[in-house]
Amino acid sequence: MKKRPSAKPLSENKHLLRWVEKMVELCKPAAVHWVDGSHEEYESLCADLVDSGTFIKLNEKLWPGCYYARSDATDVARVEDRTFICSLSKDAAGPTNNWVNPFEMRKKLRHLFHGCMAGRTMYVLPFSMGPIGSPMSQIGVQLTDSPYVVVNMRIMARIGLPVFKEIDRAEKRVVPCMHSVGAPLKPGDKDVPWPCNREKYIVHFPETREIWSYGSGYGGNALLGKKCFALRIASNMARDEGWMAEHMLILGVENPTGEKTYVAAAFPSACGKTNFAMMIPPAPFKKKGWKVWTVGDDIAWIKPDAHGRLHAINPEAGFFGVAPGTSVKTNPNAMATLAKNTIFTNVALTPEGGVWWEGMTDGPPPKLIDWQGHEWTPDIAQQTGAKAAHPNARFTAPASQCPTIDPAWEDPNGVPISAIIFGGRRATTMPLVFQGFNWSTGVYIGATMGSEMTAAAAGTIGKVRRDPMAMLPFCGYHMGDYFRHWITMQKRLSETPRVFHVNWFRKGTDGKFLWPGFGENMRVLKWIVDRARGRALGKETPIGWVPRYEDIDWSGLEFPKEQFEELQHFDRTLWRAEVMGHEELFLDLHDHLPKEMVYERELLICRM
Ligand code: OXD
Ligand code: MN
Repeated sequence: MKKRPSAKPLSENKHLLRWVEKMVELCKPAAVHWVDGSHEEYESLCADLVDSGTFIKLNEKLWPGCYYARSDATDVARVEDRTFICSLSKDAAGPTNNWVNPFEMRKKLRHLFHGCMAGRTMYVLPFSMGPIGSPMSQIGVQLTDSPYVVVNMRIMARIGLPVFKEIDRAEKRVVPCMHSVGAPLKPGDKDVPWPCNREKYIVHFPETREIWSYGSGYGGNALLGKKCFALRIASNMARDEGWMAEHMLILGVENPTGEKTYVAAAFPSACGKTNFAMMIPPAPFKKKGWKVWTVGDDIAWIKPDAHGRLHAINPEAGFFGVAPGTSVKTNPNAMATLAKNTIFTNVALTPEGGVWWEGMTDGPPPKLIDWQGHEWTPDIAQQTGAKAAHPNARFTAPASQCPTIDPAWEDPNGVPISAIIFGGRRATTMPLVFQGFNWSTGVYIGATMGSEMTAAAAGTIGKVRRDPMAMLPFCGYHMGDYFRHWITMQKRLSETPRVFHVNWFRKGTDGKFLWPGFGENMRVLKWIVDRARGRALGKETPIGWVPRYEDIDWSGLEFPKEQFEELQHFDRTLWRAEVMGHEELFLDLHDHLPKEMVYERELLICRM
């Protein structure tokens, strides 16, 4: 039986009630639904989404509790060029963000949101980023006209009654998040399965901690707890309050004695973050008792504890992962996580009522319905090049279903962070692994990190795009000030995590990858953990500490010493060009660049 929408306010907080009233007046929805977050409500919303054609229920035997959605073909990804940081001054947003005068933007938004929810239900969706009640968590309320967003947010965050209770205790500031797909319905209008608007605005007001998102129902544009709140707004909160909101996975490495070491790692998109977070160690390591535990795969909130040690929480409760390329070979833990109670968007549909995407199996099934609803066969694909799944097709899966989810993943105080890893996709220059000499070298390494552009993005293939700390699209203020914040964090710490840089993607002269990657990355991770614990040797080079061949545990892998030397090779000519590339980024940020970054660069040049 369907649950009736709850029109009755579920909070007594006067500010919240007044804000909802005001937004109802502005957006003019046909109904208001206060989200209690219950299982029955979820089921009922999913049933509605099936009735309206947004969802297809997957075969219950093959994919229990799973649903399938296809987005509009124009609404498939984050839209960086339509994402705005509307701080009071342009200078506060910095040259890496789009800025519009906040007064002008508010005027525009008032106009866009006026009547934007006509004919639809406005959902009042309270959510906690981080475990409810944790001192490290933050609360938001999203008003949205998308039930698809509500059910996805139920997987990605903690939502509903317990959050309203937190709000009523009135101890935490609530971040107001407005969201509309921008597709009002006139009486008699027939709805489409994926309502959205060609005009899109993803807007952040850092000073007032507000988010306004218009026109998109997809991913980071619409699930506002994720990139908008947990990174762009939270990076502002973190700077003001002395903590860090980072685009990082968190994992725990357990060694054979049961000792656990947690690391956080930042990689730009398409560098295998989810795979690394759920890594399975090679057989000889597993046999000895090494285990990798997953805390998070995308975002880390990191804060000094009372003793000055950094602790991290994963503010999310689910994984919003890229499906293509995920398989039992590349990431069996992800496959097990998404086997039930998962929402798939823009993958392909099999005739049995299952899902498929490129890379899931060795060969494709003989017949599919592709992400745009067209018939798809391997023959058609060969003729037209059409992909069955969109390259940015996603699964929304509960983190609790991950076989390697860390027992402490919901610890309200977070897990202690001993090392920070930066990495990118680099065919040359960058060794497999090196360690920065100290915190400020580490910050420099993160600030200057880059990744090669792949064929998927516009731009020159192979050209290195600087993506400081993998935060280029996600830092909610001036990148130079962000570097300064990193530098000054040291003053709050009794112990700084060790900082490393890895590169799984270096190629040999034959154009082939030099490193097998995936589970073998465990060998590098072991060296990192042992270094962080002060018990592994290494060798000093101009760029930092590196392992010698004999410092890596090679058990079960034939890996020639010469290949390792090639992987680790420090090439002075390439590094010259690399440092010039750093300068290009620094020029853009020059008037906000902390002097430590300039000194670090000079020191690097001197060492070289
Ligand atoms: C993501 C991203 O979706 O970084 O996590 O783009
Ligand atoms: Mn991400």
